[in-house]
Amino acid sequence: MDTKKKRILIFDTTLRDGEQSPGASMNLDEKLRIARQLEKLGVDIIEAGFPIASDGDFLAVQQIAREVREPQIAALARANLTDIDRAWQAIKEAARPRIHTFISSSDIHLKYQLKKTRAQVLKEARAAVAHACAYTPNVEFSPMDATRTDWDYLCDMVEAVIATGATTVNIPDTVGYIIPDEFGSLIDYLFKKVKNIRKAVISVHCHNDLGLAVANSLAAVKHGARQVECTINGIGERAGNAAMEEVVMALETRKDFFGFRTGIKTEHIYQSSRLLTHITGIPVQPNKAIVGANAFAHESGIHQDGLIKEKSTYEIMTPKSVGISGTHLVLGKHSGRHAVSEHLKKMGYKLTAGDVKKVFLRFKELADIKKEIFDEDLEAIVYEEVYKIAERYKLIYLNVVSGNVAIPTATMQMEVDGKTVQDAGFGVGPVDATFAAIRKITKTNYHLLKYVVSAVTGGTDALGEVMVQLKYNGRSVAGRGAEPDVIVASAKAYINALNRLEFLKGDVKKVKVV
Ligand code: KIV
Ligand code: ZN
Repeated sequence: MDTKKKRILIFDTTLRDGEQSPGASMNLDEKLRIARQLEKLGVDIIEAGFPIASDGDFLAVQQIAREVREPQIAALARANLTDIDRAWQAIKEAARPRIHTFISSSDIHLKYQLKKTRAQVLKEARAAVAHACAYTPNVEFSPMDATRTDWDYLCDMVEAVIATGATTVNIPDTVGYIIPDEFGSLIDYLFKKVKNIRKAVISVHCHNDLGLAVANSLAAVKHGARQVECTINGIGERAGNAAMEEVVMALETRKDFFGFRTGIKTEHIYQSSRLLTHITGIPVQPNKAIVGANAFAHESGIHQDGLIKEKSTYEIMTPKSVGISGTHLVLGKHSGRHAVSEHLKKMGYKLTAGDVKKVFLRFKELADIKKEIFDEDLEAIVYEEVYKIAERYKLIYLNVVSGNVAIPTATMQMEVDGKTVQDAGFGVGPVDATFAAIRKITKTNYHLLKYVVSAVTGGTDALGEVMVQLKYNGRSVAGRGAEPDVIVASAKAYINALNRLEFLKGDVKKVKVV
């Protein structure tokens, strides 16, 4: 393998490491939607999941392998035969399957977690790679906690797995510990000491505990790494993984410095970020690079003056290059279906005629109460009307009384398994009362982890967007709702979380182990 090729492979692990973020659990349909978006974005490899982890994970990886044909589909497996067999079963129908197997290599992990010697672990790493290679020549190996591993032992392990057949060797900074210069030196060291290193692609996988995941990934690229593992919006275990959009735009914007290209179609970055936020309910901080609400907002007068004279004075990349249209004001109540349909296309949505019809009906309802409809409003409608999941629970009506003299009371009617049920709830405020009514009607009592309200656009007539996170079985499940009335939006978000939770349970039940 010629590691000097001027191309960096983008390995996306949003569906595996990203899904390990608190609150990021996704159901099968949602994972498929993300995988299709990643394909559209042009990622080289999708790590679709960890099939041994649960039947739901297995099924999702299998379905993605069947349906998403352009990128390579990787499945994660610990370095043992059972995990590897299960991973292969999940991806064997992929156009280009990859098995990604890993074992810890640092003395801390060996002593306290694995309770094994270096020699034992080296043997297991080789055996795992050999077993995976019997299924496919496309095998990736990761020595977990590589950056806290003795460098010479790491070299021995990398050399051994390449000799056994691994075609990609990933160097993970599992606990986000290393510093960019140091990581560059480690990659140099591997290239100097590992005799067969040019037979494999060297990959990096950085966590963001010290806020250095992107910087470390880029340092590694500068020193010879040719695959970067990352996630959309940087979601992932603890402080997250390297953010894909940041890695890609750094390589793109500073081609002069790095001299590499990726296969990413950068104009799909923003939509990918928004899709993930909608599905997981995990918001992006406003000052987040590339995809944050303020990433291209210029507040200071001096900057604005410069921009008017010449964009490049203060803009190192254009919003358009990452898919931010810049045209926010769209339509009003006199706009017809054709105009709405054309605008949805411009925003990047490929919808069927039936979907456009549903979106248009909601658009008309909203246009009656809100003068101007913005891109963000249309986006919220698309997510509610087109991308909705099967609903066990539906809101029929909600009436809330609140104020500083009455006890906040919510009277509510819902459909539960096709039957109409009604009840009332009291609370310390209108939202609390609404959630109490929902709990009574659905006979559920999940712990509420998070409740966040934001305005989709400016103005008091803006859609209120609510995100609710419920705790279920040690996992957290998000739901969202968007309505001009924030109490109704809150009810919809809570009900959406309950439906998503049912869906997650269903994924697990539906599984037929192959
Ligand atoms: O962070 C890590 O070490 C991982 C490995 C499984 C690659 O996620
Ligand atoms: Zn990781």
